[in-house]
Amino acid sequence: MGFFDPTGFAQEAVTAIEKQVQGRAIIAASGGVDSMAVAVLASQALGEQLLAVHVDTGYMRQDESTAVGRMLVDMKVNHHVVDASDRFYAALEGVTDPELKRTRIGELFIRVFEEEARGFDAKWLVQGTIAPDWIESGGGLRDTIKSHHNVGGLPEDMEMELCEPLRELYKDEVRALAEHLGVAVAQRQPFPGPGLAVRVMGEATRERTALVRQACYIVEQELEAAAEAGEMELPWQYFAVLLPVRTVGVQGDVRAYGHTIAVRAVQSYDAMTAQASAMPWGVQQRISRRITNELKEDINRVVYDVTDKPPGTIEWE
Ligand code: XMP
Repeated sequence: MGFFDPTGFAQEAVTAIEKQVQGRAIIAASGGVDSMAVAVLASQALGEQLLAVHVDTGYMRQDESTAVGRMLVDMKVNHHVVDASDRFYAALEGVTDPELKRTRIGELFIRVFEEEARGFDAKWLVQGTIAPDWIESGGGLRDTIKSHHNVGGLPEDMEMELCEPLRELYKDEVRALAEHLGVAVAQRQPFPGPGLAVRVMGEATRERTALVRQACYIVEQELEAAAEAGEMELPWQYFAVLLPVRTVGVQGDVRAYGHTIAVRAVQSYDAMTAQASAMPWGVQQRISRRITNELKEDINRVVYDVTDKPPGTIEWE
């Protein structure tokens, strides 16, 4: 990364948004560092002319939507939290293909926004797209690896103009910007636009998503506690994935035939490449025991993903 000046960037971005966006605007506030940073910038530029909409897709992390709502209140951003989870689960019914999942979620996401936008009479959609999102979606000379939710999923008949103030930034620059803006999630790990849906291999039903949500929560809690205790450094990103693989195990002295959770933790600089993180054995054991204990009706095996990017990607889908 070259020299990045968050103060200068923020001032220029606010001026640019004021100039570009004429009339009311709506913004996707997922709660991630990208969307929260851009929500604050847009709110500074547009005030009450901006409505930040947080859509609870049903694929959010544990208690995430409540926390996002609270954060927007704290930052005095005009906002609305919409629970659209039933619609998202319905849109993904029977869908197992990763690209189809991403497209369906991206489309519905924009549809929900359009409904909110009509209610608010917004003509503009502000988004927190950053450089790796569009580069990896085939925006540069590269092949399409996966359609990132905020790029590939845009329906062609979208009714709003698009404003993407963070398009040229890489992740570390966005973090510096968020820190400068006082965004509480500035150091929070990244989370994919399509959410937990791309961490459920196969159909992302309400029930299967609940399993991966709890497993992700355990991984986060255990790693954050281990880092706090000085046992290890916090990896750049860490989460769980539900595999469509059933294996034989034993529960008490009864045969079990349960599902498998994969744990992934990576080190990265800008998400373009990543290395699988080493983790102390004791931490791995605690994670494995908690997952197989707290989810014992469904999960009887935990494996650890040691693949770098490339050849893997960070998320499994
Ligand atoms: P991959 O899996 O492509 O992920 O190596 C690189 C980084 O991007 C996150 N990710 C996404 N972020 N929309 C986003 O805003 C998406 O559709 C998306 N898919 C993956 C991923 O968690 C990792 O940090």
